[in-house]
Amino acid sequence: MLIRLLRTHLRPYRTQVLILSALLVAQTVGNLYLPNLNADIINDGVVAGNLHYIIRTGVWMILLTFAIGIFAVIAVYLASRVSMATGADMRQAVFARVQSFSARDVNHFGTASLITRNTNDIQQIQLFLQMALTMMVIAPIMSVGGIVMAIHEGTKLSTLLLVSIPVMTAFIGVVMVRVIPQFRSMQTKIDRINQVLREQITGVRVIRAFVRRESEAERFARANADLTGTALRVNRIFALTMPVMMVILNLSSVAVIWFGGRFVSEGSMPIGNLTAFLTYILQILTSVMMAVMVTILVPRAAASAERIAEVLDTVPAIADPTSPITPVPTGSVHLTNVSFAYPGSERPVLDAITVAFEPGMTSAIIGGTGSGKTTLVSLIPRLFDVTAGAVEVNGVDVRDQRQEELWAGIGLVPQTAFLFSGTVATNLRFARRDATDAELWRALEVAQARDFVAAMPGGLDAPIDQGGTNVSGGQRQRLAIARALIKRPRIYLFDDCFSALDAATDTRLREALVSETTDATVIIVAQRVSTIMHADRVIVLDDGLVVGVGTHDELVKSCESYREIVISQLGEGALR
Ligand SMILES: Nc1ncnc2c1ncn2[C@@H]1O[C@H](COP(=O)(O)OP(=O)(O)O)[C@@H](O)[C@H]1O
Ligand SMILES: [Mg+2]
Repeated sequence: MLIRLLRTHLRPYRTQVLILSALLVAQTVGNLYLPNLNADIINDGVVAGNLHYIIRTGVWMILLTFAIGIFAVIAVYLASRVSMATGADMRQAVFARVQSFSARDVNHFGTASLITRNTNDIQQIQLFLQMALTMMVIAPIMSVGGIVMAIHEGTKLSTLLLVSIPVMTAFIGVVMVRVIPQFRSMQTKIDRINQVLREQITGVRVIRAFVRRESEAERFARANADLTGTALRVNRIFALTMPVMMVILNLSSVAVIWFGGRFVSEGSMPIGNLTAFLTYILQILTSVMMAVMVTILVPRAAASAERIAEVLDTVPAIADPTSPITPVPTGSVHLTNVSFAYPGSERPVLDAITVAFEPGMTSAIIGGTGSGKTTLVSLIPRLFDVTAGAVEVNGVDVRDQRQEELWAGIGLVPQTAFLFSGTVATNLRFARRDATDAELWRALEVAQARDFVAAMPGGLDAPIDQGGTNVSGGQRQRLAIARALIKRPRIYLFDDCFSALDAATDTRLREALVSETTDATVIIVAQRVSTIMHADRVIVLDDGLVVGVGTHDELVKSCESYREIVISQLGEGALR
């Protein structure tokens, strides 16, 4: 998974990776050559008393060190650059994929998890990449080269390597087996923290209103302690790793000096070779340690890679058809025998609904809470796919249309209005970027929002906070209505968005709307009889079934459910 992900995302940076590898090879070879030169200085210069030789080799060594230093700096820079750029690309890819998700796909992952995946998980991979890009080149060359050079300097002493390398490798193996399973659970626990945090921040008013601060704090503390526990377990193992490896390293040095010293005094090994050997054994064991550090990051990065790939591999449940049809935008909406059940639920929320909405007509949908009004409305822009039957917009099944074209013709005002951080104007121009100020004011006037926007400091440029929290619920709804009006769509869907308005504003708004929407198909979902009484046609929904269709007057006579609603709201007198 990790390899596949990296292979795709590193491809654009092939050249940079190649240059980086070349620099690293040069740097490592230089590092391997230095101790050899050092041995020569001691053997042929110091011991032999040849000053000229010392100076010549010394200058050569200094130059080499400089070159190695420069290569190393460039290499580190390149490695950071490539890993950062790769991370940025991955974030972009995950973002693009999540944008194509349907409501159902988002629910499958959960908002918090999607955010963690696009931030923390990609960061893990970035971190890994930065280390891996350099060390995966250095470590093998350094260890193999070091062994070769060590044998070259002192064949007898090299038998020591037969002990220290296996000891080191065995130790690393044990650590890996203990640590790997912890990583995946760590990422899930970060998800959990983000989820709790998100819920508490968005639900802060409810938490206070119900005096649940303490229990919520406890819930967070639990999630937090859980993550900390796992992180501590991992770190306890790591805390042991470094000192143990240092011990192995130092014991090896001591052994080299112990045995090497004997060989030197016996005369079977030149003193220079001993110093070189000492450096080589350090280089070998350091490169083994480097390899360890990278391998420790592998399982963590792999866990993250899997989580990212899960997102990238998700085929959105609702996608554009392969051969889309672009219908003539008339504005007609036909539901034929539509049944619908939410994913994962057996119970149908809508049952065999057949109803037609035509341009120039205002239809109202009324029914108790939970009767399926919102669900019916969300099938029209294809936020969900029907379980059976068909939804046709402009005479073509919505599943045969390109989603963007479908949405372009629909002005949806959702039940809970959503505003973005910015200003009143940026929120309204969400519908049409080139709308003029005059058009914005006109839409605000129709939506009965002109007065309060004019009273806001800055008018159209008045700031709107994230989620629109600095305006009231009713104001938010009116801004959302204005936004839909600016789009000038053929089809208007008002989902219960008049409920937060007082009766007088409601009436004025509906009267103003009539002239704005004469040629359009208008579908108004409402709870209040007064809101829908004057609609051309009323559809009564009860528990997912259409139980009545007609004008207010007709329904009062023919539909028992409707009569009940009218009586409960307006009293018996309204029936006469
Ligand atoms: N996302 C969802 N997942 C599962 N069930 C849902 C979902 N949204 C709504 N429902 C169920 O569908 C039914 C109809 O809901 P809805 O269309 O919102 O009703 P209304 O808008 O008329 O109040 C309700 O019983 C509700 O429990
Ligand atoms: Mg609803």
